[in-house]
Amino acid sequence: MTRILMVCLGNICRSPIADGLLRRKVKENNLDVLVDSAGTANYHIGKKPDHRMCQTAQANQTNIDELRARQFTVDDFQKFDQIYAMDLENYRNIIKLAPNKADVSKVKLILNELFPDENKAVPDPYYGTQKDFQEVYDLLDHATDVVISKIKNGTIR
Ligand code: 4NP
Repeated sequence: MTRILMVCLGNICRSPIADGLLRRKVKENNLDVLVDSAGTANYHIGKKPDHRMCQTAQANQTNIDELRARQFTVDDFQKFDQIYAMDLENYRNIIKLAPNKADVSKVKLILNELFPDENKAVPDPYYGTQKDFQEVYDLLDHATDVVISKIKNGTIR
């Protein structure tokens, strides 16, 4: 089984939709993949995803209502094979906690799956409008399509 963790700052906007999209596609494709998400910050532990992200998800046939925010911990390096950060700041905060080089190499920027080596960020929509939430959805919809293809062809294990 492949185990994939999506990570942003608060775990209420970007990583929950990345999690929800990948979870839905894993199910649709009958793949043996465990999907979860976490935030590097502790501000929103135990909370539901932001209602604007839930609305955008629902409008796009994706449900994230059951997810609850949690903070990334060092144990996640043992529990997951691939760790996707939504932006460079979160990437840096994750790798700071990595126990060894093999664990550092598990951490990637999610948008490098779409735009290799460009180190682009999924923009933080927290202070934005519904349009910004849809943009996050669209970016992560495309990025998770690539992740699914790579799982199917064995590039991601
Ligand atoms: P996320 O968005 O990292 O995509 O969940 C944010 C959520 C909350 C905050 C910032 C970003 N905040 O500052 O509380």
